[in-house]
Amino acid sequence: MSNIISKETPSDGRLASRVLHWFDQRTGIKKLTATALDEPIPGGARWAYVFGSGLLFIFLLQVITGVCLALYYTPTAETAHTSVAYITKQVAGGAFLRSLHSYGSSAMIIVLALHFLQTFLYGAFKGRRELLWMSGALLSFLVLGMGFTGYLLPWDQKAYFATAVGTNVAGQVPFIGSFLTRMLRGGDTIGTLTLSRFYVGHVFLIPGFIFLFVGAHILLFRKAGPAGPIHEDPVAPKLPTEPFYPRQVFFDMGFALLIIAALAGLAYLRPVTLGPIANPADSHFLPRPEWYYLPMFQWLKYWEGPGVIIGILVIPGLLAACLFLMPFLDRRLERRIWRRPIPALAVTIVVFGMVYLGVKSQLDDTEGSAAQQLAQQREDEKAFSVAPFEPYTKPVAATSVPTPSAKAADPLVAKGKDIFSDRGCNACHGDNGVGTPLAPSLTGITRKYPQDRLVALLHSPNARMKAGGMPAVDATPDEMNALLAYLKTLGAAPANSAASLHSPADAPKGTTTLPNGD
Ligand code: HEC
Repeated sequence: MSNIISKETPSDGRLASRVLHWFDQRTGIKKLTATALDEPIPGGARWAYVFGSGLLFIFLLQVITGVCLALYYTPTAETAHTSVAYITKQVAGGAFLRSLHSYGSSAMIIVLALHFLQTFLYGAFKGRRELLWMSGALLSFLVLGMGFTGYLLPWDQKAYFATAVGTNVAGQVPFIGSFLTRMLRGGDTIGTLTLSRFYVGHVFLIPGFIFLFVGAHILLFRKAGPAGPIHEDPVAPKLPTEPFYPRQVFFDMGFALLIIAALAGLAYLRPVTLGPIANPADSHFLPRPEWYYLPMFQWLKYWEGPGVIIGILVIPGLLAACLFLMPFLDRRLERRIWRRPIPALAVTIVVFGMVYLGVKSQLDDTEGSAAQQLAQQREDEKAFSVAPFEPYTKPVAATSVPTPSAKAADPLVAKGKDIFSDRGCNACHGDNGVGTPLAPSLTGITRKYPQDRLVALLHSPNARMKAGGMPAVDATPDEMNALLAYLKTLGAAPANSAASLHSPADAPKGTTTLPNGD
């Protein structure tokens, strides 16, 4: 027995090499790394090839910083914002960590764009690389999904309102629109259920799919091999090759170092801010998405009325289809971009179109009342970011917004409530009709007017209502009944309703404080 072992083990080796040998016999790791590092690159290593591994590097960085953030983060409407404030204001290095993660998401988009442009311009998707390209296209959408789901998690004003806009867009899809919006939100409103959906998507589902498709992408890449420079035959490369290691590995590592240096520098010098907690009743807040969603944001402004479907579904759908099917559309083996005028022109138009839309949306915001409001929002955000940390305390019953939650159990009332928010009444009159600077409170409205008078008023608003922008309520008798039933629950006069919250029957669950409990 000992003879056999000593034959296989380098007896003169140092401990490290003997351990490696032991490990290799059981895993075949040496052969594995050799195959990984010997990958032949036709035409040799180049800086142009660093973007793919750069993306993998950023993804791993996002996973690591994300896991660290998840140690503190709690995905509920009550606590999410406080937990993020805790991370940025209390946790050692927390602001840096969160900034790395936030800038990391932007870096991901930039490097993704570079990776796309490089493979496109070099025609590196040609020659039996259709699946490789399509897995990459799918990964791009997953990355955008990460941006969308991650944006809500801090639960500050901009997170809340950007998500309101984003999920509303889905509502414009014909037939299944309201179903889509409800599915994204986990109900009618944006609240804890929405947060937990976005959290699960951001932390489990989408990253899981990204891991899966990164694996597939790399596997397919290794199967096809690097396409090499632009003159190379993509199916049967003829140029002399150079192995992946050492030069390409050093280029890739150099690029990774550049990325981490840039991200760390930014995170240190310009830590990302956190705005005040989401306030759904704020009707003045102007939502703006993350910069890479600005072109889409601007694009959607141009589409209204019946044509909206073309803007939100048909054209983006066609573009996405073209992206996915690029290897089938641009089929010839010709790789040189100047010999592929149509794809080159198409991509140029799309890229310039997106840049134009993004810049336009920024320029539109530099003028008028929007500019003022946005400046105010930035001020508020800065002010909250530098304010000292305040721990979460359960809201005291008497100061919470009166919610007719006990009565909302009635299906007619619930339907009325849906109509109230679907028709955007809450946008002006506030959630639960508490009133906003735009429109008066509707509390006690069913006592103020007799029912027929109220119905008439809703069907044809008076001059002052029209002047305030209130649309006529175009509803079936059933819908009107539901709306009235809901308005009735807003019945109590404000003073009474605050008092009524003290009675256990009316108090919304979970908002009462424990006696000396906290
Ligand atoms: C664009 C903003 C806006 C929207 C949306 C809106 N309203 Fe109004 N509403 C107003 C304004 C402004 C007034 C009050 C005008 C005045 O009397 O000064 C008003 C008045 C009313 C009144 C009369 C209040 C009173 O005390 O006389 C009722 C009832 C009412 N709205 C119900 C609704 C319902 C129901 C919806 C949803 C279908 C709705 N509003 C949507 C702006 C809005």
